Amino acid sequence: MKKIVNIAIFASGSGSNARKIMEHFQSSEVGRVVVVVCNKMNAGVIGIAHEFGVPVVFIDRKYFYESEDLLNVLGRYGTEFIALAGFLWLVPGYLVKAYPDKIVNIHPALLPKYGGHGMYGHHVHEAVKAAGEQESGPTIHYVNEHYDEGDIIFQTSCQLSPEDTPEDIAIKVLELEHKYYPRIIEQVLLSQK
Ligand code: GAR
Repeated sequence: MKKIVNIAIFASGSGSNARKIMEHFQSSEVGRVVVVVCNKMNAGVIGIAHEFGVPVVFIDRKYFYESEDLLNVLGRYGTEFIALAGFLWLVPGYLVKAYPDKIVNIHPALLPKYGGHGMYGHHVHEAVKAAGEQESGPTIHYVNEHYDEGDIIFQTSCQLSPEDTPEDIAIKVLELEHKYYPRIIEQVLLSQK
């Protein structure tokens, strides 16, 4: 039998993608979520992790960037793969090096458009709206040391209408994120076995 891959989710937002990933891998023979890493004490993802019985590790900026101790912590959970799901800090070089091609992120726009520092959540959808785009959608990509620049694994899009507000766009894109992120993670894990 093939070994089940241990996944860490890095998330600091409401956690809706993290929920979908935890749901999906609850009954998967490909991967399982072993820990959630979070940088916000009041993030919605914390309650969700508790619901699924997944431990949460809190980090602050100094710890994340000025020590490499997180590698030890991830190691203690047997972490082999990392999925960022609403995690907005740039991933430091030591983590990228320790997990080559083993860190993925979801971004709520069709990269390379609307990516980079400061481009997250509603900022992205406001920019898409301001540019009058006729479509948008999530991008799932590998993570390197630059914001949103790693190789693209998957994109899918939805049509936008001129009446759509940034909030409407967010809803459409998030629906696609929920539908595809868990299954694309699973495909990546299978392709790396
Ligand atoms: C998602 O839309 C994700 O694509 C976005 O944050 C949201 C998190 O929502 N990520 C970025 O903007 C990264 N640049 P969630 O906490 O409900 O999953």
